[in-house]
Amino acid sequence: MSHAEDHAGTRRDFLYYATAGTGAVVTGAAVWPLVNQMNASADVKALSSIYVDISGVEVGTQLTVKWRGKPVFIRRRTEEEIAEARAVSLDDLTIDKMAQNPNKPGADASDENRALDEAGEWLVMIGVCTHLGCVPIGNGAGDFGGWFCPCHGSHYDTAGRIRKGPAPRNLDIPVAQFTDESTILLG
Ligand code: FES
Repeated sequence: MSHAEDHAGTRRDFLYYATAGTGAVVTGAAVWPLVNQMNASADVKALSSIYVDISGVEVGTQLTVKWRGKPVFIRRRTEEEIAEARAVSLDDLTIDKMAQNPNKPGADASDENRALDEAGEWLVMIGVCTHLGCVPIGNGAGDFGGWFCPCHGSHYDTAGRIRKGPAPRNLDIPVAQFTDESTILLG
C-alpha cells in the first residue's frame, strides 16, 4: 500500500465514522424534543388551567387576567348591557353569526350562547382583536357600547360580537366554567 492509498483509506474511514457519528447526533436531537415535549405536557397542562377569583368584580366592571399568554376579559355586565346584547337579532350580526364559544361548539352568536351564566351577567372572552391581534378597549367603548379596537377601527357590542370594522370574527371565548359562585376555571 502506497502512502497515498493509506492516507485515502484513513480519510474514508474518518468520513465514515464522522457521518455515522453525525447521524447518531441528529437522531438524538430529533428524539429529544419529542421526549422533552412529552415530559413537559403534564406541566403545560397544569399551567394551562387557572382559577380566577371573581368575588371582587363589581357590576359594570371588567377584570383582565393573563391566561396562556393572552389577556382574558371577565366582565360583569350591567342589566342594560345584557338587555342590549339580547335585543340584537342574528340578522344584525352580518360579520359573524357564530358564538365562537368552545363551551358550546357550533352554536349561533345569540347572547345566551356567549355569556358564561344563564342570566348573562358574566361574559368571559379572550381580549385579542380578531383582526390583527390588538387588545381592544372596553367599558362601553365603540359604536356598540362594548369594546373598540383602535388599531383599525373594529367595534364589538356588549356581547363581544364584531359589528363594524375589519375584524372577521367575534371575540373568542375561552374554555371556561364556574367551579363555585365566585370562581371561574379557565382551560
Ligand atoms: S387589530 Fe383590531 S382592528 Fe385591526
